[in-house]
Amino acid sequence: MTAINEVTDLSMDGDVAVVTLDSPPVNALSAKVRDGLYDAFAAAIADPKAASIVLVCAGRTFIAGADITEFGGAAKGKSLQEVQKIIEDSPKPVVAAIHGTALGGGLEVALCAHYRIAVPSSKCGLPEVNLGLLPGAGGTQRLPRIVGPEKALDMMTSGQHIPAPECVAMGLVDELAAEGQLRIDALAFAKRIIAEGRPLKKVRESNAKVEAARGNLELFAAFRAANARKFRGFKAPESIIQCVEAAVDLPFDEGLAVERKLFVELVTGDQSAAQRYVFFAERQVWKIPNVADDTPTIPVQKVGIVGGGTMGGGIAMNFVNAGIPVTIVETSQAALDRGIAVVRANYERSAKNGRFPLADVDRRMALITPTLDLHDIADVDMVIEAVFERMDIKKELFTKLDNIIKPGAVLATNTSALNIDEIASVTSRPQDVIGMHFFSPANVMRLLEVVRADHTSNTVINTSMQIAKKIGKIAALVGVCPGFVGNRMLAARGREAQALLNEGAMPWDVDRALYDFGFAMGPFQMSDLAGLDIGWVKETSKGATIRDRLCELDRRGQKNGAGYYDYDANRASTPSPVTEAIVREFAAKSGIAPRTFTPDDIIERLIYPMINEGAKILEEKKAIRASDIDIIWINGYNWPVYRGGPMFYGDQMGLDKLLARLKEFQAQAGDVWKPAALLEQLVAEGRCFQDVKP
Ligand code: 3HC
Repeated sequence: MTAINEVTDLSMDGDVAVVTLDSPPVNALSAKVRDGLYDAFAAAIADPKAASIVLVCAGRTFIAGADITEFGGAAKGKSLQEVQKIIEDSPKPVVAAIHGTALGGGLEVALCAHYRIAVPSSKCGLPEVNLGLLPGAGGTQRLPRIVGPEKALDMMTSGQHIPAPECVAMGLVDELAAEGQLRIDALAFAKRIIAEGRPLKKVRESNAKVEAARGNLELFAAFRAANARKFRGFKAPESIIQCVEAAVDLPFDEGLAVERKLFVELVTGDQSAAQRYVFFAERQVWKIPNVADDTPTIPVQKVGIVGGGTMGGGIAMNFVNAGIPVTIVETSQAALDRGIAVVRANYERSAKNGRFPLADVDRRMALITPTLDLHDIADVDMVIEAVFERMDIKKELFTKLDNIIKPGAVLATNTSALNIDEIASVTSRPQDVIGMHFFSPANVMRLLEVVRADHTSNTVINTSMQIAKKIGKIAALVGVCPGFVGNRMLAARGREAQALLNEGAMPWDVDRALYDFGFAMGPFQMSDLAGLDIGWVKETSKGATIRDRLCELDRRGQKNGAGYYDYDANRASTPSPVTEAIVREFAAKSGIAPRTFTPDDIIERLIYPMINEGAKILEEKKAIRASDIDIIWINGYNWPVYRGGPMFYGDQMGLDKLLARLKEFQAQAGDVWKPAALLEQLVAEGRCFQDVKP
């Protein structure tokens, strides 16, 4: 065995040269890896004893892509294109041997090999779109040549990882190796290629599938139309489509030039910078300072959920989906039956939509035990309370849980705003009490705010984070404060949304600005969807707010066809003249001279207070890092991922500019706009939110 460099070896097995990459954690194509690969292939090609070459990786995976940390830096070492060229032009057949994942640049390297073999558990994909990029190493030109333009468009705009057996079916991989036997089977495959005199198959020369689609404009028009909603706001999917059009219309090298130009535009653009930031933020969020990785966890084999309403039922589904049995406790048979029926209906709908076989519905439901007796959850490892949001009710329940539940179990509350220290104070074991704030619908939304109270133990924190991962959530650890992180910032936005109405804006102006910014909907559409009458009491309502007035007119939101908007039978909305008159009346009463707002004015008014609130949260150490706040907003509130989250947005615009605008607003509208002390400090020090270390 010859060491080519720190991460690449070359060895001979009979007449097969084996290039082995070992660059943990994921064999990303760093400069060292590219240099090692280039030199190893040059040596293997030059070695007269080598008849063929196998490329294999050590560790947990084949090459998982370009090294994302290198983007934006100065070019170093061999380029990826030089590495690909030496592989593709090798006069000796090259076999790429795949385990783990062959992703992005990793798959693009494998596509330059003449043959590919993979273990059944491995997956291939071009997930660059998730980083705001397109496959920039020939992937957009080679993939359609193997799988055809339609499948290639699907794969590259979704970024999905395709299991190896499916890759074989679509021609992306030539052979399956036996699991755990990749190296042996790859060597045998390489020897067979030589023995059978098989040709040097170059994907770039295989034109039949792209030529068949030449001139088929309808294919691309239909794809754009079918995905318009999904791609709204994102630049990368359209660039990918244009590359595939080039693959179909142009010779290979010209298509490659189109790919290069569009890749450079994306990699130097704002969206990819934001999405690369989010990639690392999603991994950072799991790392808790002062809670070491080897902190013990409580094995969670059984979960009790108190409250079988919409929230409790949704929470239960998460655990059931992960195969963890759940007992749901309710106070009346009718409520219990209703809750269980809703869960079943949800599962049946998913099965009908093809998410899993119909037979699975019963299998999943069998993991749920309904009961009216709290004692039936005495032996669970984790309890999650999802009862009515009132402190006295929660305290009474936690007093009972303290007496009933086995020692050492996690006692979690799903409160979205109440003080968890106060809830924990009624138990004899505050170290076991934690917040697990799920977002509605709890079986769908990815976010979980894990709320650490004063006395919560590290074991309970670690257990909650680990179980969140197991049930497929992305969890951010936050501290106790009103509304925690997400809802606290939402309240700051909501306050300004209402203020805008008093100054002459209409609800649909506000919603439209946020929609165009990239949110799925604005605050008034959100209120109509949730129901305007949540928390509204008819008997005591005195028309004090616009919302009260709408409810008094029985405008309760989408559910009864009228709220801020009017709705038709298909729930399509139109601005309501009734709402407009009420808004104008309130605006007149406010005494503020009405004015018109541009979408940019509205965005400033809504987004800057959120960032300022985020700065206060960071200053009070209620979030560990700015990027955790961004993760919360992307996964819990639909903040457009291509804008990186509110704190990233603040950093990008420049904190000095943000501070100056906040001060102007403060001068006009008072201390609700007072800038956070942390913001003042960061600007004085020339730093940004991302520089604030936990
Ligand atoms: N570059 C740099 N670092 C990477 C990386 C990459 N491509 N992929 C993963 N890492 C790092 C992660 O940040 C993490 O670091 P940390 O331990 O310090 O937090 C570590 O590797 C392990 O990653 P995960 O925690 O994600 O490990 P998993 O086992 O859960 O997942 C994976 C492995 C499926 C490979 C996942 O890491 C992944 O999806 N990686 C990104 C794949 C990708 O997007 N590839 C395309 C890159 S762009 C490209 O290739 C452009 C080309 O077309 C020119």
